[in-house]
Amino acid sequence: MRILLIGPPGAGKGTQAVRLAAYLSIQHISTGDLFREHIDRGTDLGQNAHTHIHAGLLVPDEVTIGVIKERLARPDTERGFLLDGFPRNLAQAQALDGILADSESRLDAVLDLEIPEVQVVRRIAGRRLCRQHREHIFHVDYSAPEVAGVCDFCGGELYQREDDREATVRKRLEVYRTETAPVVDHYQALVTTISAHGQVQEVLDRALDAIGQGQ
Ligand code: AP5
Ligand code: ZN
Repeated sequence: MRILLIGPPGAGKGTQAVRLAAYLSIQHISTGDLFREHIDRGTDLGQNAHTHIHAGLLVPDEVTIGVIKERLARPDTERGFLLDGFPRNLAQAQALDGILADSESRLDAVLDLEIPEVQVVRRIAGRRLCRQHREHIFHVDYSAPEVAGVCDFCGGELYQREDDREATVRKRLEVYRTETAPVVDHYQALVTTISAHGQVQEVLDRALDAIGQGQ
C-alpha cells in the first residue's frame, strides 16, 4: 500500500506511522526524521535543513523533493510506503504525483489527522524522544516512561526537540494552516479525515478502518 499521513505538528503522525507501517509491513518515511538524521551526521544538507527547522519554516522544496526522490527510489519501497510529513505544500504534492506517474504507481489512501490546536500544543510540550531510536516516542503525561528521562525500550536518553519551543511551534502551526492544509484538497478523492483525539490505540483503529484493514 502507498499511504500519505497528513496533520498538524503534534497530531500524532509519527506515533501512528510507526504502528501502521509495522502492521502493514511497509516503509515508514518521515521527511522530518530524514532531516534530523542529516543534522546528526553533520552533512551540508543537514546544516541547510537545520536553519529552516530551527525557525519553524519548511525546508526548501528542491532539497526536500530531492531527499524524497532518493528515498523512494530504494527497492525496499516496492512493497509500499507510508509518507509522514510529505508532501507539505502543493509544489511537493505535484512533485510526488510526477514521481508516482514515472514509476506507474499510485496512492491508495490519504489520511488526514484532525486535532484542535490547544491539544497539539499540549502534546508537543510534553513530547520526549529517544536518542537511540526515532520510533520510541513518549509524553510526560500521556505515555510517561517508567524512569523520567530514560527510554523504557532501550535505556536510551530521552530529549526534547529543539523546534518544540513555544515560539517555533506557533510558527509551525501557521505554516501548516497556510501551506499544508491545501494539500488535503489536492488529494480530495483519496482523503479520509480521522479524529486524532483519544488513546493511541483508538486513533490507530480509526486509521486501519479508513484503509479497509480494521478488525
Ligand atoms: P516533522 O518532524 O515532520 O514534524 P511535524 O510535522 O511538525 O510533526 P511532529 O513530529 O511535531 O508531530 P507528530 O504529528 O509526528 O506527533 P507525534 O507522534 O510525535 O517536521 C519537523 C520540521 O522539519 C518541519 O517544521 C520542517 O521545518 C521540516 N520538514 C519536515 N518535512 C518537511 C517537508 N516535507 N518539507 C519541508 N520541510 C519539512 O506525537 C506528539 C506527542 O503526542 C508525543 O509525545 C506522543 O507521545 C503524543 N501522542 C501521540 N498520540 C497521542 C494520543 N493519541 N494521545 C495522547 N498523546 C499522544
Ligand atoms: Zn529507545
